[in-house]
Amino acid sequence: MPQPKPIYISPATRYQNAALNYYLELTGSPYLHYGYWEPLPVCQNDLTIAKLRTAQEAYTVKLFSFIPAGTNTVLDVGCGIGGNAAYLKERGFTVEGLAPDPFQQQMFVERTNGQVPFHLTRFEDFPQNHSYDLILFSESSQYMAADDLAQGAARLLNGGGYLLLADMIRTDGKYNEGIFSNCHVSSVLHDALTQAGFSLVKTEDISAQVAPTIDLGIANFRTFGLSTIKYIANLLAIAVPPIYHFLRWIFNRWVKNLIVEGLEARKIFDKHLCYQIQLWQLSKKDHENSSPTA
Ligand SMILES: C[S@@+](CC[C@H](N)C(=O)[O-])C[C@H]1O[C@@H](n2cnc3c(N)ncnc32)[C@H](O)[C@@H]1O
Repeated sequence: MPQPKPIYISPATRYQNAALNYYLELTGSPYLHYGYWEPLPVCQNDLTIAKLRTAQEAYTVKLFSFIPAGTNTVLDVGCGIGGNAAYLKERGFTVEGLAPDPFQQQMFVERTNGQVPFHLTRFEDFPQNHSYDLILFSESSQYMAADDLAQGAARLLNGGGYLLLADMIRTDGKYNEGIFSNCHVSSVLHDALTQAGFSLVKTEDISAQVAPTIDLGIANFRTFGLSTIKYIANLLAIAVPPIYHFLRWIFNRWVKNLIVEGLEARKIFDKHLCYQIQLWQLSKKDHENSSPTA
């Protein structure tokens, strides 16, 4: 398979890519989203990677139940490794994917048998070639500024076209530091989309069905992550005490707080965020004003 053409990828995006690739390794799934747990887990034993994969399939089905009839062309922004795009393609949509990660590009091309075009770029840098009926942001909105998202989508959509977004959203604008602080503040996102000419057609809060994935992550980290860290620390303390003391210092200085916060992730989510699916429609008039050919 030909190698993707190299593009400049900023260090921040490379950190995000590394985290997403780690998530892929852990789940072994074609999706990078949280999933939709239905039925909800009733006990700790229900929190398994196998059930997460089932939840991820259910999320995709749920998401696509929001696509309005008559939609044909779809731009899947932040398409990951192609789970959603393959699902759409199989259902007769004309799809294109976009993400700033050569590794995802490779996996995407394999998953979609090379039949779905992939654009190796950030959404913010995506040049306009043609317009789409619907732009999908399946858990990718949190990686870009609200204005870039709203104005970029308005520029790329046909008049009357749709923007379908599913993501964690901050309900508390004062929560602005920590694990989920890159998620949009609800009112800021709403204002950016309204100003770009969109109106909200439909929304659903699926926080309860998404949250078990956070619980699963915490449970697995407690069981495997912490015990592995302790084991490696014990080995180092026996074998190379100076390195152990140095790493312990680094751990206490930079890593410990991150771990404490990670273990609190469910409480932070419940207190400051929600997870919503939102369907927005672009008015025909606003599109005519923003279109270069108008
Ligand atoms: C959590 S994953 C979601 C993947 C996929 N949509 C899904 O539902 O499984 C976030 C995606 O957004 C992409 N992404 C990050 N920054 C982006 C940007 N500036 N423009 C477009 N996509 C971006 C990531 O590379 C990744 O594909």
